[in-house]
Amino acid sequence: MIFETHAHYDDERFDNDRDLLIQNLLSGRICDIVNVGASIESTKTTLALAEKYDHVYAAVGVHPSETEELNEEWIAWLKEQANHPKTVAVGEIGLDYYWEKEEEQKKRQTYWFKRQLQLAKEVSLPVIIHSREAAEDTMQILKQFHAQDIPCVIHCYSYSPEMAKEFVKMGFYIGVGGVVTFKNAKKLRETVLQVPLNKILLETDAPYMAPEPYRGKRNDSGKLVYVAEKIAELKGVDVEEVEDVTRRNAEGVFGIGRDVGVED
Ligand code: NI
Repeated sequence: MIFETHAHYDDERFDNDRDLLIQNLLSGRICDIVNVGASIESTKTTLALAEKYDHVYAAVGVHPSETEELNEEWIAWLKEQANHPKTVAVGEIGLDYYWEKEEEQKKRQTYWFKRQLQLAKEVSLPVIIHSREAAEDTMQILKQFHAQDIPCVIHCYSYSPEMAKEFVKMGFYIGVGGVVTFKNAKKLRETVLQVPLNKILLETDAPYMAPEPYRGKRNDSGKLVYVAEKIAELKGVDVEEVEDVTRRNAEGVFGIGRDVGVED
């Protein structure tokens, strides 16, 4: 069974078949799904999905590119949602300098990243981190926040294997998805080789990042099979081992399931 740690099933690309798709996934090879908020609106729709399905859980938070909408009232509201029984993480939060390169934009992202990290600490929840073209600043903020005290997932990991080792040393987990199957993803495959399996989580970022042979198409958790197969091939282990270990990793991080407290 596969634990999907990062999907956006509230996305409009699932409007025509959302319920059927989620039911099929959960009656098949997918045991649990964390649906991830990226704005105030998608935090609401994420929570609605989590309320509807037993094995769908919510991450609540605002993506760096959406932080313009944030203020202290919304932070207070997010804190309430963090206490919802189906909320298992704060996320996705972080830094994204790909689209926003101006100093002022970076400052705004940094402010709300720190503010939401603080919130995660207050409610004792793990954090799902979105970090793109902002490796050094992300690392520096996480160190400054002693984020090693709370489990963090570096979602859709895109930096160097060396940086991954540093994150792992801090106790963090590395989110691996469809990109690992792409022809040009040498760096990520090297990262997977170097990071122990008990620090890797499987994630789609659906509807984005579909693995080969579906690259460019709409993604869904069923396609994690291709990601698990690629990781198994790289590590020279059975695909069942990849599914089992990453599932237990996710259960430990998000506090779900019977075997909470995975050995390191
Ligand atoms: Ni995402």
